[in-house]
Amino acid sequence: MIDSDSIKVQTFVSTNSEKVPNYERAAKYWSKIPATVDGMLVGFGFVSDVDIKGSDKFLKSLFQMQFPPGKERALDCGAGIGRISKNLLTKHFNIVDLVEQNRTFIEEAKSYIGQNERIGNFYNIGLQNFKPSVQYDVIWSQWVLGHLRDEDLIEFLIKCRDHLMPGGVIVVKENLTSSDSIEMDEEDSSVTRPYSLMQKLFTAAGLTCICETKQKNFPKFLYRVDMFALRPTKLLQNEATSQ
Ligand SMILES: C[S@@+](CC[C@H](N)C(=O)[O-])C[C@H]1O[C@@H](n2cnc3c(N)ncnc32)[C@H](O)[C@@H]1O
Repeated sequence: MIDSDSIKVQTFVSTNSEKVPNYERAAKYWSKIPATVDGMLVGFGFVSDVDIKGSDKFLKSLFQMQFPPGKERALDCGAGIGRISKNLLTKHFNIVDLVEQNRTFIEEAKSYIGQNERIGNFYNIGLQNFKPSVQYDVIWSQWVLGHLRDEDLIEFLIKCRDHLMPGGVIVVKENLTSSDSIEMDEEDSSVTRPYSLMQKLFTAAGLTCICETKQKNFPKFLYRVDMFALRPTKLLQNEATSQ
């Protein structure tokens, strides 16, 4: 049976078929990258502290909302060596799971993060094939969604949407193009999307952005980086009608 979500995905994908990430090429690229913070940030390791500060501020603002997410369990998507799990998520959540396709990065994450009883499961799989098995208060995806094709990104977001705890949010933190077009990086086989396309993808996944902000204090020559907090649109509509 085709549900309305699948129809939306199919309709959407047909309009974006030119610049598409290649999963094998991306995996090959990452297999040659050192398992270090600088490697994770492709030579821009020096922005890590500013990045984490910006994320921390954003996350704290979500906890201040009228219906905030809980603090029990978070998922770090495209976690790399666990930079975000170590420096951000384990500071706020009792359990943090990591999903990352590169086995070397997962192994390094174990020593980079060190002994930390808040670290839960490591899933060694690509996001395009990942199926969450538990519910999360926050699902954090940063600097990885450009590796997913539009149709897989929508499917991934739908799976995340359907594994949120009550009050849960999906946080997307990604580079955005300043033009209205998609830019392809042939080296790592990822795309950088414009703001308008990100919004369309969220909508296609049945998600509504409830809070967004631009990362501040990054060097001017880098892409603009935005943080989005997303909730299931249906849930928000139900809340609105029951008030
Ligand atoms: C730019 S690094 C960012 C790592 C981490 N999110 C951070 O900010 O420190 C991109 C990460 O995404 C991972 N990755 C690339 N394609 C992926 C995919 N299809 N599924 C899961 N992880 C992927 C890479 O192996 C790498 O660890």
